[in-house]
Amino acid sequence: MTEQFSKKAEAWSARFSEPVSDLVKRYTASVFFDKRLAMFDIQGSLAHAEMLAAQGIISDADRAEIERGMAQIKAEIEAGSFEWLLDLEDVHLNIEKRLTELVGDAGKRLHTGRSRNDQVATDIRLYVRAAIDDVVALLNSLRGALTDLAERHFDTIMPGFTHLQVAQPITFGHHMLAYVEMFGRDAERMLDARRRVNRLPLGAAALAGTTFPIDRLRVAQNLGFEDVCHNSLDAVSDRDFAIEFTAAASLVMMHVSRMSEELVMWMSPRVGFIDIADRFCTGSSIMPQKKNPDVPELARGKTGRVYGHLASLLTLMKGQPLAYNKDNQEDKEPLFDTVDTVLDTLRIFTDMAGGITVKADNMRAAALQGYATATDLADYLVKKGLPFRDAHEAVAHAVRACDSAGVDLSEMSLETLRGFSPLIEDDVFAVLTLEGSVAARDHVGGTAPNQVRKAIERVRGQLK
Ligand code: ARG
Repeated sequence: MTEQFSKKAEAWSARFSEPVSDLVKRYTASVFFDKRLAMFDIQGSLAHAEMLAAQGIISDADRAEIERGMAQIKAEIEAGSFEWLLDLEDVHLNIEKRLTELVGDAGKRLHTGRSRNDQVATDIRLYVRAAIDDVVALLNSLRGALTDLAERHFDTIMPGFTHLQVAQPITFGHHMLAYVEMFGRDAERMLDARRRVNRLPLGAAALAGTTFPIDRLRVAQNLGFEDVCHNSLDAVSDRDFAIEFTAAASLVMMHVSRMSEELVMWMSPRVGFIDIADRFCTGSSIMPQKKNPDVPELARGKTGRVYGHLASLLTLMKGQPLAYNKDNQEDKEPLFDTVDTVLDTLRIFTDMAGGITVKADNMRAAALQGYATATDLADYLVKKGLPFRDAHEAVAHAVRACDSAGVDLSEMSLETLRGFSPLIEDDVFAVLTLEGSVAARDHVGGTAPNQVRKAIERVRGQLK
């Protein structure tokens, strides 16, 4: 215990007269999860040391020693030989302690004009910025993969649903491109949040700034930040940028989850619209016939986990007085897990998009079953001069008759159809076909194969 305390006391100071218990030590330590920030911590420290030397706060020789020590620490971490000590509480103290072991007094000078409060805020911002870049790249890969799928099926007809009832025929390509739009907005949202993430807290020190003649803009530039945080209290304490990222990540997962729900449903033998390649599915330990869409199901489940992290972070922040409080140490695990979950999910979905087989015949049969062209018939009557509400009524009667006869609208004789409106002529059958129906919706945002092609070109342009 004495031995452990002496190590601990070194990290702190002579201020303390008794050691913390092992339980308190474990309770307050973060090294086991925040060591993930190590490379960002080193990057921030190097930029800080560079500025301290440029400002004459430390010597160039000290700066060179710090760089030498940090290079070795980096190598040790990469090789897995770096010894992380619980006694040293967190990633920052572990690295600083090792630096001092390696380079002596220069290592002890690194923390001049700095606090772990602005240090950790900087590390997290660097981490979130990198995470955003990864997420955006993967969103774009997924958009590319879904666009490929859309291209293969630009004119494959399926029923479009509202209320999960067959509504109107659409093209499968159009359906896929709906998700391409959603993931496109998700990428925009991430990049928008990035602007607010990309500001430098360093220089705020513990909370009030520092008495040393620092140059914050120099550090900001060195680290690729677009600006500095303009208030030291705000800089060390708020984690709104992490919340914003997690909110954007929650929306990514919400879209993934909607898609998952459809994939699961489409793969059910009762629907039979698609098959998902075996490598994304698993069997049952008891039912030999089963092939389950585990990947989309799990993604749907993991969405809840990311929403939970958003709620955690919002709650973490809400009661904190200015400035830094130790509560903020709890920002890391939800954030890290959000990043891991979203990145893995996007990777696997990009891959899975290439493993989706479309069962076009089943889609077509389903589209033929639900009077999907009823609106087309109403529009036809309107074009012949009938007010839309009257046309709606006439077609409703026709659908009812089809229902009792067990036939589709397109299977009724012209004579029968004319019973519902004398405006109907034999050109009606072109309108009642699935192909005619989709092709007629030929405007920006419509489901016509022609428009699907144009939309694909537009997306390809964005992805270039
Ligand atoms: N591990 C701490 C965190 O994650 C670092 C900052 C500690 N600052 C302090 N004043 N105790 O927030």
